[in-house]
Amino acid sequence: MGNAPPVICVDGPSGSGKGTLALAIARKLDWNILDSGSLYRIVGLHAYLFDLSVEDDEALKQVVESMDIQFATEPSPNLVVNGKDLTEAIRGEEATRYASLVAKREKVRAALLIRQKEFRKPPGLVADGRDMGTVVFPDAKLKIYLDASPEERARRRYVELKDKGLNVSLPDLFQSLKERDAQDKNRRVSPLKVAPDSFVLDSTGLSIDEVIEKALAAAKQKGLQITN
Ligand code: C5P
Repeated sequence: MGNAPPVICVDGPSGSGKGTLALAIARKLDWNILDSGSLYRIVGLHAYLFDLSVEDDEALKQVVESMDIQFATEPSPNLVVNGKDLTEAIRGEEATRYASLVAKREKVRAALLIRQKEFRKPPGLVADGRDMGTVVFPDAKLKIYLDASPEERARRRYVELKDKGLNVSLPDLFQSLKERDAQDKNRRVSPLKVAPDSFVLDSTGLSIDEVIEKALAAAKQKGLQITN
């Protein structure tokens, strides 16, 4: 991987703010971005819409291999799959639930591993997910493990959904977040865990700007040029 473009990984549990941080770093450095959770969400949404069993490895693998995926950071983050804008659709309840189910399947992960590596292009890549630093880009220049207490993560999600005008309950969100944490941390293949060489950043009680500042300081320490 000597000449491969550099990668910054942001891993952590649901609602820790990975997406926001990854986007801020990608914009700052003008690098490419990979929101790996979106890929699991696309596959999950597809399984739900087309009534595929989440255990039908061959069918899901075909979905992974055939999709054309484009991420953009400007003017706002969006995701286009096979020419269709799925930015909002993959955030729905079913896509969220099915994403965690297909993410347990070894064959789906193996097929997605290949697709995720394709995003590593010059001048660099910021990748967020659960196993970016441990499995997909083990040679990343910087690995950030972004955490926050479950209470804080549920509260953030609550505020975000309320702001969108959705009628949600904080206890329900807390419960489903705990379930997703357990699924992500306890699954046999690529569980969520802290890479030994990662910079652990607990965002509980920090503002977004404080988190970004700490992450950029860590990037500078790794020798990455951050000019403005
Ligand atoms: O990050 P996000 O919540 O969008 O991810 C959706 C689901 O996809 C997660 O709950 C997790 O089960 C799965 N996922 C994963 N590995 C990744 C990214 C996401 O297993 N690298």
